[in-house]
Amino acid sequence: MAKFIVEQSGPLRGEVDVSGSKNAVLPILAATLMAEGKCEIYDVPNLRDVDVMCRILRSMGASVEEDWETHTITTEIGSVLADEVPYELVKRMRASIFAMGPLLARTGKARIALPGGCSIGDRPIDLHNKGMRSLGARVTTDLGMVEVEAEKLQGSLIYLDFPSVGATENIMMAATMAEGLTTIENAAEEPEIVDLANFLNKMGARIKGAGTDTIRIEGVEKLRGARHTVIPDRIETGTFMVAAAITRGDVLIRNCVPDHVKPVIAKLMECGVTVNDEVEGLRVRGDIRKLVATDIKTMPYPGFPTDMQALFMALLSTVDGASTVIETVFENRFMHAAELSRMGANIKVNGRTAIVPGKNPLVGAQVISTDLRAGAALVLAGLMAKGTTEISEIYHIERGYDSFMEKLVSLGANIRRCED
Ligand code: EPZ
Repeated sequence: MAKFIVEQSGPLRGEVDVSGSKNAVLPILAATLMAEGKCEIYDVPNLRDVDVMCRILRSMGASVEEDWETHTITTEIGSVLADEVPYELVKRMRASIFAMGPLLARTGKARIALPGGCSIGDRPIDLHNKGMRSLGARVTTDLGMVEVEAEKLQGSLIYLDFPSVGATENIMMAATMAEGLTTIENAAEEPEIVDLANFLNKMGARIKGAGTDTIRIEGVEKLRGARHTVIPDRIETGTFMVAAAITRGDVLIRNCVPDHVKPVIAKLMECGVTVNDEVEGLRVRGDIRKLVATDIKTMPYPGFPTDMQALFMALLSTVDGASTVIETVFENRFMHAAELSRMGANIKVNGRTAIVPGKNPLVGAQVISTDLRAGAALVLAGLMAKGTTEISEIYHIERGYDSFMEKLVSLGANIRRCED
């Protein structure tokens, strides 16, 4: 198993380009299953999760070409599509569930191994199933598989008990080819939903309201191939903003959408970080004034993103004063707190609240990456900690960040990868 060896590094300085969004490209690739014809997707990040999604499309009978020189994926869907996503692919990536809506819309059936939970929570799919049932599908789960089937999908009104990102995306995809109007109320509003809706509309779908809590989808007979450029990854953007702040550096982050990271900008500025929206990108400086504590509470978009919680906890471990971190989206997303405490952060967790005392200088240690964002947070903490930090289970990180180590090294980080 590979690990990262991170030495205390000076302030990060320079420029970094953000890659395409993991959480936008995964549902977009799944949506190509509904196209009669070729799709070309640009600015695709080179990630393990993208590789798994391409395998899923191929296992369905699609032809998929990956060109990592140009970060382009081309898919061509023939008339025959399998309707089952095997467990060995689903267990590698929960986002396999995004095949449910497209397969149901295109073939009238989908059999997908139930995505297990993960370290951050049980990750149920009851809202996905509720949406499919509302559209007229029969949903059965047995032997670890979920099966959805319908001769013809009927548009309906669907209220989401929680603004689930995945459920909103799956239902929106299934509804594009249902008969009549579907309205999703209390829908998730993340930018990745908007990007997916823009792609589906290029394919001929008729979606309005993506990015608000009410999305209306007028069903159409079929969808055609389309070209699309994926939006920049807002969580990678936030990650490099925190990297500049935690090392007290000065970094220009290019190819990002400042509008998508407003809560992160606001919270960094509360800590005393300088963030300037320049023509070239976002310039983030942690070297101008002493950084101080602030409190964060994760919420669905446009609130503070849960995916930035671990990264921000690492930063708050290095500032002067105690901070409170409240996680409202996932039930178990503080695993990184124990690892940061091994580095001297002395974080106290009580249910969904963590108290980060700050002040304590971090010291290098051997730590474990428990999920994608926790791993990235430990890398950033290691840049600041005295001595050496060894981070194992880094496959989590490589699932969701394109060239993470290389980008950090280009900014002056002292980090290397080695086999355990
Ligand atoms: C997406 O996961 C992202 N993944 C996650 O990013 C992100 O943390 C999450 O949205 C929240 O923003 C992708 O887009 C591939 P949810 P998703 O459905 O769709 C509960 C990362 O680090 N829920 O909005 O699974 C669920 O248990 C990953 O890039 C139900 O109860 O998130 C959770 O508590 C991690 N029933 C909450 O909703 C359901 O049917 C949010 O889940 C579905 C979800």
